[in-house]
Amino acid sequence: MINVKNLSIRFDDTLILDDISADIKKNIITSIIGKSGSGKSVFIKTIMGLLKANSGEILIDNVNINNIPKKVRKDIQIKMSMVFQNSALFDSLNVFQNVSFPLYEHTKLNDKEIIEKVNYTLSLVNLTDILEVYPSDLSGGMKKRVALARAIIQEPDYIIYDEPTTGLDPITADEIINLIKDIHNTLKMSSIIITHDPECIKQLTENLIMIDNKKIIFQGTLNDFHQIDHPTAKAFINHIFN
Ligand SMILES: Nc1ncnc2c1ncn2[C@@H]1O[C@H](COP(=O)(O)OP(=O)(O)OP(=O)(O)O)[C@@H](O)[C@H]1O
Ligand SMILES: [Mg+2]
Repeated sequence: MINVKNLSIRFDDTLILDDISADIKKNIITSIIGKSGSGKSVFIKTIMGLLKANSGEILIDNVNINNIPKKVRKDIQIKMSMVFQNSALFDSLNVFQNVSFPLYEHTKLNDKEIIEKVNYTLSLVNLTDILEVYPSDLSGGMKKRVALARAIIQEPDYIIYDEPTTGLDPITADEIINLIKDIHNTLKMSSIIITHDPECIKQLTENLIMIDNKKIIFQGTLNDFHQIDHPTAKAFINHIFN
């Protein structure tokens, strides 16, 4: 469980998030929506410990990440994994090298164990026979699958997707949505998805968080979201359900 309490973030004199609180429960899929520039990525980066809060608290499984020793922060960061919008694969490394990278960095597994784990993880994302292929020879959908494999190879408790379907054709986007659902259920993780794709929101969301004008203006189920009386929220509802 992630508890965000009275979090504020500013860059120089500009306030980005103003005293926001939210609970991201375990084992469900949470979607985060909001206009471009509303602070979704800043929110997520702060949760991941990549940005520092100006005030407020973030508790990850009851550990306050604001003031913790480096070693504990590392343990927490291993629990959390991110799939970036552009997949962010290493172009000079092949698929095996990309996916095995976290294992060589963070574990003492031997080569045989690593090969087995990479093959198993690639099978979870429905990829086979591409260990030697370089990212430049992969389609957008395959890149996304490889990035997903790399993100789950250490079986994180939390996985965060930034715009997982943006830039993909509708069929491939649908495949990625189904994959996110399957992985979520197979690995029993907590999944957090930043998205503005109506299909992603409709098919995956169990808990919805909407950020607008520096505040969280809604947290709850999609059903309850329909009832909200707020101009930006209403615009999103029209976009999602029409
Ligand atoms: N490192 C930074 N330094 C200064 N300002 C920043 C920094 N990172 C983000 N911002 C500003 O914070 C605000 C929120 O940015 P953020 O990237 O979180 O938006 P977003 O909701 O993720 O948008 P998008 O949907 O376009 O990805 C923006 O005004 C952005 O310019
Ligand atoms: Mg963003």
